[in-house]
Amino acid sequence: MIPTTEEARQELELAGQLNPGPWTAHSVHVGRAAQEIAQRCPGLDGDKAYALGLLHDIGRRYGVSARRHGIDGYRFLMEKGWGQAARVCLTHSFPVADFTKEMGKNDMTGQQSEFVQRYLQGIVYDDYDKLLILCDSLATAQGFCLLEKRFVDTARRYGVFPFTVERWNATFAIKEYFEKQMRCCLYDILPNVKETTFLHEPLWQPPVR
Ligand SMILES: [Fe+2]
Repeated sequence: MIPTTEEARQELELAGQLNPGPWTAHSVHVGRAAQEIAQRCPGLDGDKAYALGLLHDIGRRYGVSARRHGIDGYRFLMEKGWGQAARVCLTHSFPVADFTKEMGKNDMTGQQSEFVQRYLQGIVYDDYDKLLILCDSLATAQGFCLLEKRFVDTARRYGVFPFTVERWNATFAIKEYFEKQMRCCLYDILPNVKETTFLHEPLWQPPVR
């Protein structure tokens, strides 16, 4: 089961009140990008893609966290019976479906880490997993930008790792996968890519509490 777009919107709004930050605007842009792409791909549902985008980072409702936001979102949405949205909470951070190839600090317990590791080993990514991985990498809080810009922002925030380029290449491969289905360039269907790419925003830092 997946939530309606209205249910997803309400959950995101509530989550933004619990933990305000640019992550909610980012989530809206991820949803919009996913919707635009899905509407142009045979067999994909735009509303479903939008709802999945709105909820992919919903684990941030519990506060500022790193890798833990995935498992927190997964648990929260599983309890609501929204299995596919829960799944995306876990998969969207892993363009390479390997738990050891993630950049964020691992703030999960050992048991949670093991669960995610086994979960990723036990599935094959479907089109919605791929779509949300891609959209997470091209949406900022301000709008849509070149993948290359997000990759550099992420590297500046988290550093570079031996698997960084493998992650980038996996994301570019997903972009090409959807462009083939849409028969057009991704950047032609998303508004203001050029403007957002050239915007200079200081790197976001969690508030000091
Ligand atoms: Fe995200």
